[in-house]
Amino acid sequence: MHTDAVGIDGMAIWTGKLKLDLADTYAPAQDTDPAKYTKGLGLYASSLPDVHEDIVTMGANAAHRLLRRKGVSPDEIGRIDVATESAFDRSKPASTYVAGCLEQVFEGDFRHANKGERKFACISGTQSLDDAFNWIRAGRSRGRKALVITTDTAFYERNDPGEATQGAGAIAMLVDRNPDVVAFGTHQGHGSADETDFLKPNQQYPSVDGTRSMQVYLARIQEALEDLDAAGADLHPDAHALFLFHTPFPGMVGKAAVLGYNHGVRGTEVGSGLVDRIGPQPRPTAFDDEDAYLDALKTYTGKLMETPHYEEWYERTIAPTLGLSRHVGNWYTGSVHLARASGLQAAAEAGRNLADERMLVASYGSGAQAEIHAETVQPGWDEEISQLTIDEQLAARYDLSFEEYEAIHDAHNHNRETPLSPQTTPEGEFVFDGWGGMGERTYAYVE
Ligand code: HMG
Repeated sequence: MHTDAVGIDGMAIWTGKLKLDLADTYAPAQDTDPAKYTKGLGLYASSLPDVHEDIVTMGANAAHRLLRRKGVSPDEIGRIDVATESAFDRSKPASTYVAGCLEQVFEGDFRHANKGERKFACISGTQSLDDAFNWIRAGRSRGRKALVITTDTAFYERNDPGEATQGAGAIAMLVDRNPDVVAFGTHQGHGSADETDFLKPNQQYPSVDGTRSMQVYLARIQEALEDLDAAGADLHPDAHALFLFHTPFPGMVGKAAVLGYNHGVRGTEVGSGLVDRIGPQPRPTAFDDEDAYLDALKTYTGKLMETPHYEEWYERTIAPTLGLSRHVGNWYTGSVHLARASGLQAAAEAGRNLADERMLVASYGSGAQAEIHAETVQPGWDEEISQLTIDEQLAARYDLSFEEYEAIHDAHNHNRETPLSPQTTPEGEFVFDGWGGMGERTYAYVE
């Protein structure tokens, strides 16, 4: 029985319809070794939006697909939260545009749904799920469901080191009682600090200190692990079928996974075995200078990652969560939720039975905050996951030449007027089709 459970009842994914191949197209134009992207970052391609796509069309298209598939009508939805860091309006939330789109194709309306837009870099999708969980658990939902949408066009300035990690896509998730995919646990761990490693002060493209952003990510994840531990959660690596992380690029997760593992085995039999095998983890107090300590830590981490238990754990719980990210890049607010879809889809394909198994979910947003909680996979998960059409969508993307990529980047630049014809022909989807008299963006549904 799962009567108390609140969590994700269904999800749908919408990828930007264009593809930038990093090895074949981007690397030669940058005169870079393709292995820097495919092996170093762990990325093969970016999904990018066609000219008629933006955060609203992608979010509305994902939501449309989800509501139709689940047979949910507008009056069953009590709140719509859009999580994004690519908003184009400082007052009117993207959720109102998305609802307007959906009202073009559904009977009824979302007049009584509470709508909002959540911002905290990449972590706001998880915060929106949190809000939905609390709303239902507080008894305020009157039997209605929450629609949470993550949607971003993650463009960087041309020639910024982050350019190779770009991506665009949306994920719509239905949060309800007795969910079919996962139920959220109540324990949470947070790590949060005022940081300036990645931010967009009134600008479209981020100001980024890339190297520091990775250190800040790891520091906040470590703090969130400690906080979750203090809350009494079981963090042992063997207690979880999957461990999802915010995935700006898979290489980042490789570094975070070691932290999660190391923390989880501390004080356990596996941890004692690890000390016997590779010695204790170096402590900063044992070194005269920081460089010597960091060198010792790197050597220790390298040895840990080569132990059979770690290798088996990584292949089982981490590697399956990275499959989709490798082909789409960073979807910012959607990235950790794409990791959930990827991990569950890979598990279903491998014939694993995850019903009632636990997962750990580690979200992160620059600026900076990490949150980690556990989820329990629900008995209907594999049927739900089999309905994702993401592999077909990825295969159908238009493969850009480098010149076409440059033109698309310009076309989406808010500071330029660069009219461009679309590369794909819209069918059964919402499109951006112009501007209204108040400067608002307008949308139409193309049959
Ligand atoms: P970079 O200068 O392009 O790359 O910046 P690099 O030289 O540091 O190389 C990257 C990796 O590839 C390294 O691996 C290299 O060794 C390896 P590592 O040492 O780290 O394990 N490499 C190669 N491997 C094989 N063959 C080769 C080769 N060459 C190099 N030939 C950077 C990388 C991540 C800094 C850049 O992409 C960037 O600035 N990205 C944007 C910021 C970012 O993604 N930060 C991640 C943490 S913050 C975060 O996740 C939040 C975020 O999602 C935003 C939000 O919350 O809103 C970004």
